[in-house]
Amino acid sequence: MQIQAVRGFRDVLPGEVALWQKVEAIARSVLERYGFREIRIPILEKTELFSRSIGESTDIVEKEMYTFTDRSGISLTMRPEATAGILRAYIEHSLYQLEPVSKLYCIGPMFRHERPQRGRYRQFHQINAEVLGSSDPRTDAELLALLRTLFEELGLRELDFQLNSLGCPSCRPGFRSKVAEYLGTKRARLCSDCQRRLMTNPLRVYDCKVETCREALAGAPVILDELCQECEAHFLSVQKNLSLLGIPFSVNPFIVRGLDYYRRTTFEVLSSDLGAQNAVCGGGRYDGLMGELGGPDLPGIGFAIGEERLVSILEGRAGAPTSSLDLFLAALGEEATEKAFLYLDKARRLGLRAEMDFRGGSLKAQMRRANKLGSRRLLILGEAELSKGMATVKDMADGTQVEIPLDELESAMAGWKEACSQRG
Ligand code: HAM
Repeated sequence: MQIQAVRGFRDVLPGEVALWQKVEAIARSVLERYGFREIRIPILEKTELFSRSIGESTDIVEKEMYTFTDRSGISLTMRPEATAGILRAYIEHSLYQLEPVSKLYCIGPMFRHERPQRGRYRQFHQINAEVLGSSDPRTDAELLALLRTLFEELGLRELDFQLNSLGCPSCRPGFRSKVAEYLGTKRARLCSDCQRRLMTNPLRVYDCKVETCREALAGAPVILDELCQECEAHFLSVQKNLSLLGIPFSVNPFIVRGLDYYRRTTFEVLSSDLGAQNAVCGGGRYDGLMGELGGPDLPGIGFAIGEERLVSILEGRAGAPTSSLDLFLAALGEEATEKAFLYLDKARRLGLRAEMDFRGGSLKAQMRRANKLGSRRLLILGEAELSKGMATVKDMADGTQVEIPLDELESAMAGWKEACSQRG
């Protein structure tokens, strides 16, 4: 019986990979320009790391983690996000001793046992960035500026930046009790999940997509009315700095985020191209988390972009990269095939993307193959060419042909490589 991939786990096929590579290359280039350095952390962590940081009563920890006991009896979890692991590594290796502010990024797969649908998978990929050690509101604005640059360089200008503040331990508990009290009066109209959330995590109701829950929230208390002075000043300063940099945003007091570690600034970047799962990026500040994980009491803020969602916005747009070939070698006859095989290797060593078809076949069949692969040039080596010590080279775009002596072929190929590099 044929074995299929696990539900919610996708293959990224060769035809799609060019876009993923483009997204990652631009992301790396922008992140490094803004002072971020890559960190690579394990996919498996101790379960406790996630339950303590993301929060016991979140959907992720309650019902979405891939958790198992390994052969030594330890409970391990496949990372559902990267922030907790980055903080664990930062504390474990005392990275705070190296720099007062560390900017770290990582790109890779995350795992959540959610109900799969368009834009929502059980294995998905994030481009994740964290700034550790700065509580300055300019850092919040700087992260959003980075996102604007990254999206602009990918050709996306129409994304919606939405911002909120979730307060801190001195103002949030008061807000939380007000919410619990208010929603208590609307209990009957809430979905069964939200009725449960009322006891464990009432703010999560703000994030519920069920229509009756959304209706119940009309007239609910708004966190921004309850912020303490410090949180309010921080939030105003973030907005002032965003305006200074000319970054358009809107304030949305319903952005509560699905992870419990947030404090103060939270944000999401939304795209109208995405359907129900419309958040292409989410993030926020988590001052206090480092201390709770046993590290120094340093502030932090970060974001994660969902790569599947970003790639799906870019798919089908003009300018999506296609990978093509620089040279296809067509050979006719045993001796010519042997020569072509040798030149194929030389071409590749010179840096050209070159291919030939070992099945041989007629010249017409080999030309069809060159066309299919989108080759820029076709090099023909037949018996006639061999006897003259020449190769015929055809420009596939304009159809022109030249003959090149075999002993000059290598330098001609080096010239083609040079021309490719200049075109970028
Ligand atoms: P998050 O909002 O859970 O935040 O995820 C960030 C992004 O990952 C989402 O906006 C979405 O694009 C993508 N994403 C999440 N779940 C899925 C899924 N099942 N399938 C496809 N894409 C998905 C975090 O993970 C935080 N760690 C972000 C952060 C970093 N906050 C501070 N630092």
